[in-house]
Amino acid sequence: MLSRIISCGLHGIDGYIVEVESYISGGLPDFDIVGLADAAVRESKERVRAAIKNSGFEFARRRITVNLAPANMRKEGSIYDLSIALAILAATGQVSLPATAGMVFLGELSLDGGIRKIDGALSMALCAKSTGQRGILLPAQNSGEAAVVKGIDVYGAASLIEVIDFLNGDLCLEPCAGICDFDMLQKDNDAAGSPKPDFSDVKGQNGVKRALEIAASGSHNCLMIGPPGSGKSMLAGRLPGILPDMTFEEALEVTKIYSISGLLPSNIPLITQRPFRSPHHSVTQAGLIGGGKYPKPGEISLAHNGVLFLDEVTEYGGSLLETLRQPLEEGKVHIARLNATLTFPASVTLICAANPCRCGNRFEKNKKCTCTPGQLRDYMNRLSGPLLDRIDIHIEAASVVYDDLSGQGMAESSAVIRKRVNRARKIQTLRYYGTGIYSNSQLTPSMLDKYCRPCLKGEKLLKRAFDKLGLSARAYGRILKVSRTIADMDDCEEIQAAHIAEAIQYRTLDRRAI
Ligand SMILES: Nc1ncnc2c1ncn2[C@@H]1O[C@H](COP(=O)(O)OP(=O)(O)OP(=O)(O)O)[C@@H](O)[C@H]1O
Ligand SMILES: [Mg+2]
Repeated sequence: MLSRIISCGLHGIDGYIVEVESYISGGLPDFDIVGLADAAVRESKERVRAAIKNSGFEFARRRITVNLAPANMRKEGSIYDLSIALAILAATGQVSLPATAGMVFLGELSLDGGIRKIDGALSMALCAKSTGQRGILLPAQNSGEAAVVKGIDVYGAASLIEVIDFLNGDLCLEPCAGICDFDMLQKDNDAAGSPKPDFSDVKGQNGVKRALEIAASGSHNCLMIGPPGSGKSMLAGRLPGILPDMTFEEALEVTKIYSISGLLPSNIPLITQRPFRSPHHSVTQAGLIGGGKYPKPGEISLAHNGVLFLDEVTEYGGSLLETLRQPLEEGKVHIARLNATLTFPASVTLICAANPCRCGNRFEKNKKCTCTPGQLRDYMNRLSGPLLDRIDIHIEAASVVYDDLSGQGMAESSAVIRKRVNRARKIQTLRYYGTGIYSNSQLTPSMLDKYCRPCLKGEKLLKRAFDKLGLSARAYGRILKVSRTIADMDDCEEIQAAHIAEAIQYRTLDRRAI
């Protein structure tokens, strides 16, 4: 009267195997679930009892004990319903136990025996594969997402009866077909997605466009400073249209995060476009970094491998910006809880926009700044410090001149810019293959020496800039990384003086010392 079914739980963005054991013994009718189960798991007793009865099977009127092992990991949610029901039915001989061997079962049950969609199916399918299971059976709505994982049979089912008939050999279920060609899927998704705003709408601002192209090519953090109405938000909103294609590995990482957050649409098995997240400045710390009673990824993790845009960055609370320091440095967020520390990926391109002062007219030729010196200092203090440390490119978005606005000539389209960005990113993907990084911005100090040696003239220029402009040691690394990207955009293996010179231009705030 003992049975064992395999299921899967979630820890952070990764799955881990959970064994669901069921033991039926004599005594008064009772039903207990043990193994550090939370309230939602304990509630599954009622769902399982009703689903079994309403599917036409017998719910044993004996003492039933279900154990979820390992007992030291907290089990959350309703994903174990199906495996608990199967364990009870197998212990009473209503389901063939040998047929369940090597299979992972996941799914929430409804009272009528239907199987409902779950979160985190991709992570759990990856876990099933890495632990050597032969297959995974989960809700039909999740089967497309899980079938992205190759080398394991993925079955989708809509009801408990279907699963039992399949296990007893009365019904034939075909494994879901996965994705054949990732590049094709990416192209299809690009074509099917809603049209994105285009860079050609933005008149003038060629300097900012160039800076954003560099930021997209090398995944560099960028700060745009300019007066109100100069087009900063407009330019940032057009960034998704020029972000480079993702590799399959990057797409898997992003999809795992959206899947565990319950944000993956059921018609999209794999996210192939880089995310662009733009949280309002009233966002809470848990919303930005991640957290909550059952920790969920925050905006910075939802922007993983894509862009996190902070518009009006000075309006975000100082402590909120401080919390970004560690994730921006490491590309990961660690969330400590009483029982465990969870880690979510958070490798983002940070794009910020700000006015140069409270009234916005500082540095404007024809307008007068009305800020007092104290206000100016306060304003810049909100910007400067540790966050600026992590920004590679500072660019001024000056007011657009009339001739630019009224000009008839079409500016370059996003498609043309994206082609160049893709070319530069491909060079980086090939160069860093097997090193664990994808782009120039992720270069570690030891890698800088290997990959970012400027030519003799470039080195001299960098030294002169250091002495003359009083650049800091941290600016040195930033300039080298950005110049590496500019050289890649020029298809140049060696970093030339012109590349260094342009990268130095993007240290506006260092030069101004504001
Ligand atoms: N370079 C430009 N080309 C065409 N239209 C522009 C340009 N710059 C601004 N505009 C127009 O001005 C509007 C406001 O621009 P936007 O919101 O991007 O300014 P902003 O720099 O973000 O200002 P703020 O600092 O107040 O947030 C845009 O919606 C657009 O219609
Ligand atoms: Mg704006």
